[in-house]
Amino acid sequence: MEYTWNDIEQHVAACTNCSLSKTRQRPVMGRGNYQADIMLIAEAPGGQEDQQGLPFVGRSGEILDRLLQDCGLSREEIYITNILKCHPPGNRDPKEAEKEACFPYLKYETYLLKPRIIACLGRIAAQRIISADFKITRQHGAWTYRKGCALTATYHPSAILRDPSKYEVVKADFCEIVKKRNEILCQKES
Ligand code: URA
Repeated sequence: MEYTWNDIEQHVAACTNCSLSKTRQRPVMGRGNYQADIMLIAEAPGGQEDQQGLPFVGRSGEILDRLLQDCGLSREEIYITNILKCHPPGNRDPKEAEKEACFPYLKYETYLLKPRIIACLGRIAAQRIISADFKITRQHGAWTYRKGCALTATYHPSAILRDPSKYEVVKADFCEIVKKRNEILCQKES
């Protein structure tokens, strides 16, 4: 049986696959355009996201919106999700068991969206999606290709909150994502 977006959202809403279901306020399903070519994958909902049940509504979300705007993108054109759908207490790193328990949801999101570009935001997503030894400092902005999808990673917006000088670096990576999207769309047309 094929799942729909609504089915996945309902499964996420009722999920008890790991112990984060006991501490979360609200699970956070991915959001955005179901026809998007670009899928952003981050780490896990923060405190604000946990309260509202929506991805990137806190301070990292403000930075994300600025980055999107500065390279001519908007949330309406992309799909944003997280490796974990529930907030880890104290914003600690996700545990292996939590990432595994949540992975089927990300797989379904990817299957339904069929993105042409996946951009990981931060080390946790890059190491789960691109390669286990991914070094964000050295490899951000690099591209790999898998099953017709271009994959890249850049710093998580929260890294910019800690070190504002990273803004321009991440902006350059975001602009390359837009360039790659345009290249892919041109190939599709020709
Ligand atoms: N940080 C994340 O990784 N994801 C969110 O949704 C918000 C903050």
